[in-house]
Amino acid sequence: MIRTRVIATAASAPKQVITNDDMAKIVDTSDEWITQRTGIKQRHISAGENTSVLVSDVAKQLLDRASVAAEDIDLIIVASVTPDYGTPSLACMVQKEIGAVNAVAFDVVAACSGFMFALSTADKYIRTGAYKNAIVIGGETLSKIVDWTDRSTCVLFGDGAGGAYVESSAEGGVIREDIGSAGDQYEILTEGYTACSNAFNDVPDQTDPEWYVHMDGRAVFKFATKKVMKSLQKVMEEEGITQEDVKFFVPHQANMRILEVVSKKLDIPFEKFYLNMDKYGNTSSASIPMALNELNEKGLLERGDKIILSGFGGGMTWGTMLIVW
Ligand code: UT7
Repeated sequence: MIRTRVIATAASAPKQVITNDDMAKIVDTSDEWITQRTGIKQRHISAGENTSVLVSDVAKQLLDRASVAAEDIDLIIVASVTPDYGTPSLACMVQKEIGAVNAVAFDVVAACSGFMFALSTADKYIRTGAYKNAIVIGGETLSKIVDWTDRSTCVLFGDGAGGAYVESSAEGGVIREDIGSAGDQYEILTEGYTACSNAFNDVPDQTDPEWYVHMDGRAVFKFATKKVMKSLQKVMEEEGITQEDVKFFVPHQANMRILEVVSKKLDIPFEKFYLNMDKYGNTSSASIPMALNELNEKGLLERGDKIILSGFGGGMTWGTMLIVW
């Protein structure tokens, strides 16, 4: 059976680091509040580099690490809610930047579940035999759509990108997934609203304040714990495995407390959740591949290991995937 296997991973983040104490200089907050409520200690914030710079850097590293020529890439999918442009897609910008002249390139939008949706899409193309390989990236510069005067959201997010080069393989790869959407709840997490203003109506040409991230934190917390739990359970049950068979859970890095609840309720040892939100904050679609790359770079994964990636986010959306490394 053809499966989609991760061959290489990579990540990129802006150099500028903003600590919780730095945040306390611009809004009424503290290192103590942010650390206790979220587990975040610092985040990387763009000094001007846009999302295309970060995702292109990831793509270049992937080619290098996988020893693949750019012209041999079949497919490029980028997940993002903070692209440089409405059009072109980030994926087309990556295509140009690396010279992947034979690739099909497009973006997907599923907020913090974006990487899961992108990987799921690549998996279908590869499983059907349509394409042999793909570059799949999640990347964001959330700093440009955060309201830096709103302490309830601005302390949470960071900028970054992460990705994987995947290839068709007879062994290992994506084994099982559960992805889903709950559009009926879209209003609990929004950003980037653009009003329909034109020359023939009276709608003001003014997108603020809806442009910025708006979040009902408690509602998102509730959605996340419920969906992540159900989704993890579903994937493990359908595969006939338990948490004991899984080496690492690589979750969306939004909030440590969400994972503490999931860990307790599903009886999964907390150490099995790989966390790096303390260093990067919530980087939306980039968070899962950035964490996966860190695990990989630390040499903590061996071929044959079962790992589960799981995310939730705006839309609302969720996605969980069991992969054999
Ligand atoms: O990728 C999408 C991800 N989004 C999420 O995962 C969000 C999920 N939700 C959460 O993580 C939590 O709801 C938050 C971390 C966002 C907030 O934590 P909370 O425990 O739900 O706090 P809260 O919103 O109920 O606010 C509690 C208090 C409020 O003050 P009062 O009304 O009790 O006086 C807030 O004004 O904390 C205050 N507060 C802050 N205080 C210091 C809110 N933000 C801050 C802050 N610093 N940054």
